[in-house]
Order: sequence, then C-alpha cells, then structure tokens
Amino acid sequence: MSNEREIYEPSPESSTGSWAENWEALRDHAAHDLEGYWAERASELVWSKPWDRVIDDSNKPFFKWFVGGETNIVTNAVDRHITGPRKNKLALLWRSEDNRETRTFSYFSLNREVVKMANILKAMGVQKGDRVTIYLPRIPEVVFAMLACAKLGAVHSVVFAGFSADALSSRIDDSESKLVITADGSWINGNVFPLKDIVDDAVRFSPTVENVIVVRRTGSEVHMDNTRDHWYHDLESLPIARGACETVQLDSEHPLYILYTSGSTGKPKAILHTHGGYMVGTYTTLKHTFDIREEDRFWCTADAGWVTGHSYVVYGPLLTGATTFMYEGGPTYPHPDRWWELIEHYGITTFYTAPTAIRSLMRFGDAWVNRHDLSSLRLLGSVGEPINPAAWEWFYDVVGGGKAPIMDTWWQTETGMFQITGVPAMPQKPGSAGMPVFGQDAEIVDEHGHPVPDGTEGFLTLKNPWPAMARTLYKDDQRFIDTYWSTYPGRYMTGDSAKRDEDGYFWIIGRTDDVIKVSGHRLGTAEVEAATNSHRAVSESAAIGIPHEVKGNAIHSYVVLNQGYSGDRDLIEELRAHIAQHLSPIAKPDDIEFVDKLPKTRSGKIMRRVLRARALGQDEGDLSTLDE
Ligand code: PRX
Repeated sequence: MSNEREIYEPSPESSTGSWAENWEALRDHAAHDLEGYWAERASELVWSKPWDRVIDDSNKPFFKWFVGGETNIVTNAVDRHITGPRKNKLALLWRSEDNRETRTFSYFSLNREVVKMANILKAMGVQKGDRVTIYLPRIPEVVFAMLACAKLGAVHSVVFAGFSADALSSRIDDSESKLVITADGSWINGNVFPLKDIVDDAVRFSPTVENVIVVRRTGSEVHMDNTRDHWYHDLESLPIARGACETVQLDSEHPLYILYTSGSTGKPKAILHTHGGYMVGTYTTLKHTFDIREEDRFWCTADAGWVTGHSYVVYGPLLTGATTFMYEGGPTYPHPDRWWELIEHYGITTFYTAPTAIRSLMRFGDAWVNRHDLSSLRLLGSVGEPINPAAWEWFYDVVGGGKAPIMDTWWQTETGMFQITGVPAMPQKPGSAGMPVFGQDAEIVDEHGHPVPDGTEGFLTLKNPWPAMARTLYKDDQRFIDTYWSTYPGRYMTGDSAKRDEDGYFWIIGRTDDVIKVSGHRLGTAEVEAATNSHRAVSESAAIGIPHEVKGNAIHSYVVLNQGYSGDRDLIEELRAHIAQHLSPIAKPDDIEFVDKLPKTRSGKIMRRVLRARALGQDEGDLSTLDE
C-alpha cells in the first residue's frame, strides 16, 4: 500500500469548470437531503411520467427508486439526442482488431441501427419482459442488441464471449431466454474464437431458445440450422426490419438486464438492474467522475460482457451524450503499443482501464508509449482491483504525462455504478479509491458489525441506498437477502475488506469471500472446482487465489486424483485445457498441484485459508477445526 500521506493536488486544467468542481458542496447536499439530491439528478433526464416518490424503502432490502415514474433508458441514451444538436455527433466509434476497419455511428445512425434490430426482435416475438441472451464480441452489434432489447422492454443477459458452452448454456437456461444473439466467431489475437459452435453446443438441449441471430464477423464457416438460425445481414434486408419502432415507456422499476456474476457457490448469481434508477446512477456518476464534456472521446476498455462494459461503455456514455470508443482487440496484439496508437489516432480524452492491463503493458517499457503523442488525454481511470503504487505512478507519469488525474473507481456488478471514487477536483492519493460517491456513506466494520477506528482493516459496508443498486437476484430473492443484507442488518455487505484513513480516504484491500479476481475478472472458487472436478481423473479439488505480479491474483489448484491416474505434466496440461473448455480460458489455473487429500473442517468444508498459507509459505494459523 502506498504512503497514505502522499497527496496529488488536482490540476487547475482538470478541475476548473468540472461538473463536480464544488464536490464538497455536492457531498454535503446529498448527505443532508438524499432524496432531493437524486431528484435533481433525475430531473436532468427525460421521463414520460414523473415519479411520485424518489425512494420507497418500505420493503427493505427491496428498495424502489423513482416510484410511479415512467421512462426508458433508450429514451435518454439515444432518442433525446437525435432531436437536438447531438443528432450528427459521433455516438460510437469502433476499430477492428486488424486495425484496418473503422465503423462510426452518429446518434442519428445509432438510432437507425437500434430501430432495425428492435424491429427484427419484435418480429421474432420478443416482447416486454422476455429475456434475450447476447453472446457477442466487442463489435458495434453488441451495443445495438442491448439497446434494442431495452427499447422493447425486453431484458438482456449479456454473457462474456469467452465463456464456454457449459457456462453459456446454464445462463441461457436459468434466464429462460427465447432468443440468442451471437456472431460466427470473434477475433482474438489474429485467431478465430468459434462463438457460433459454442452456441450450437449450448442450445442443443435448451427448452426455451426459439431463434438464434448470427452476426457475420470472421467469415468462418459455421453450421446454420435453418429452423432456428438466421444471419443478421439477411434479416436486415427484410421488410420486417424497416419502419419506425416505438421506445416502450416503462415503469421505473421495470427490469433492464440481468448479468451473471460469480459468488461463493458454484451457481452464478443473476444480478438484476432496472431502467429508472440504473439510468440516473450511471449517468450521474460518469458525468461527475469522468467529467464528460461535449468534445470528449471516452474509451473504457472493458468488454460489454462485464458490468463495466454495461455501465461505462454503453449506457453511461450514451446517457451523457458522449462519444464512446470501442476496440475489438486486446492491449498487446500485435504489438504492445496498440492502445497507445489508438489513443493518438482517435484523440481519446478519457481512458478507463484495469490495473492488470496497466501492469502487463508497463512490463514492455516506456518506449512503446513514448513513440505516441498522448497529449489528448485529460483523465484516466482504473477499475476492477486495487491499483498498486508502481502501476499508478507509471500510468500517471508515462501514459498521462503527469497531467491527467486517475479516477480509481471502486464498485461491483451489484452496485451498478461507482460507489467509492474521486472526482477531478478532489486531491488524489495513489492506491486509494477516494471517497464514497455523493449520497453514499461507507463504513468499515468488524465481524460483529461495529465500526472500526480509522486505519484499521475491516469489512466494507454501504449504509445508504443508491439508485443503480441491484434490485434482487433474478428468481432468487432469498439469496439476495442472505448474501448482501443479512450479515449486517440494514447495511449492504460488499464482500471486500478495506480501511479508511484519517482524511476519510478509502483503501480497498481485497475480497473476503471465495471470490478470486484474476486479471480483474471475477471468478468463484466453487465454479473453478466444479469445472475441475468434471474431469474423469479428478476426485476432488480446491482452488485458491495467490498474489500475482501482473494478474493481481492467479489461480492455484490442489487436486486429488481418482485411483489409477498419475499426476504428471501431461495431466496438468489436460486439466488446464479442460477448465478452459468447461468454464473459460480466464479460469485456467497457473499451477496445479496433486495432493493425497485436502484440509477440511470436521463438517467437510475445505479450509482454503490453510492452503493459501501453505502456498505462500506462511504460518497456517489455528488448525484446531481441521479434521485431521
Ligand atoms: O473486490 C472489488 C473489486 O472488484 C469487485 C467487484 O467485481 P465485479 O462485480 O466483477 O465488478 C468489477 C468492476 C466494477 C469488488 O468487490 N474492485 C472493483 N473495483 C475496484 C476493486 N478493488 C479495488 N479497487 C477498485 N477500484
């Protein structure tokens, strides 16, 4: 952790005239009048029917926001811009991985694409409330698909296009999706990842999927089932795709999307977000923290398959009327200056990425950055895991040229919007995420829920409701209560440990549950274990996260083999491939160690704490609950 006293004062260029320049006044206003503060923010947006109440907390923890109001997030993200001066402004700017193709969409043409896709979905019988699974790479169609669903009041479930058929199939079945939207394949470092083949496997036994729409991207050969599969380019030219399409006005609390994320059991949780509150929350936080200006070109490198992509590639930037940039590829292919080249070429002003990416690029040295003119950068951002001081400083000095403040934003799939962050006018402390967003009150507590003194590590909790908060876990209200609201009644439990310093800055330390952040991706140990255990050679296994210089954490697995199998190098490689295939390549353990048995409590729970201590060569602590 960095020196808590080290402070970077805001530069006048980045703070003067910024939306949250008077951040202390905004904070005080929200602290004294939470409802008034959020009502003011919401009234910056368009509602077809005004709300009667800002917050309804009569059935906690199932809070409702902007009760009685009607809108649609698309009314504000697209429709309102095309009737005003932003009609011809760039909404979406896209670059291909081979760096040869640019696609640009003004707000006007973005609307045309969304209307077209919505008309097609409607013709396929997609109605208000229906679920649609989107399994697409970073191409403009992922944005059209999300917005088209929202426009009709359908609920999208975007699955990261790196998940395997098993993971995709369980998400399709759990959400009971009628329709899947995918592509023939995606480009990953010059190779084709066979998305359509994975969908074929995933929907083979699906009881609910009626249609699959396939976007042509790689041109690779795929099997098309003519009773179920449709090329998007064929549908686009049909009469059903033409004509206007109304943006359905919805109750504020109407579901916008579900997004599966990992928890401490093997079954991923489907986080549910709604139109009204999520819209106000992502709009406000992006505007305040990244200080969106008309001339900005905002680049968030996240994939639309994760919450960061939902909130800050798609919805937040479009709600603020910004230009959002999307790049199909990754940071180091074909050379480690691809990102810097893009920033220079497109004049990106605001660049929001993850510490793992910064650390991986930093290893290649400054020269790759220095050969590009990055003077357009005004603000930088970080998300997904704590940023270590060395990476912070490199990002600040080398990438930002010492003039672009770094917004370290702490939040979660569940929170929908930033919860702890800075704003450009706030002094920064490298390694600290800053302070709670206006209207939030975060507190660090001990295991009994008592606040701990400043400087002491404890569990991070949130005390106030916020508009973009998850409303529930889809089809599982009880698990929502149990997971987040039962440990410390009346407070939201984040699952993170943190400390607060005497100036009120929060320092996030890491997860306290069985969630591992690998390269910023959230994985559950139970999911990794389930994928491992499905291999015929494996009797049981335990996965733990251990610190890794670039990835933040790496997965280390302990495996007990069935009789007749020997743990050799080949089997390790086979298991890694098996996990990649049955869960995702991001879940591949760095190390697999074969053991005779796993340390367990008398009730049979794996003691990961003991394994972690052993892996790190640390004291194993209290072993009195160990079975043997
Ligand atoms: O542990 C925290 C870490 O990421 C977790 C949430 O993961 P996910 O739902 O995948 O959302 C990631 C992007 C919003 C948190 O519980 N985390 C997120 N942002 C930060 C962070 N840890 C430290 N600093 C951050 N800025």
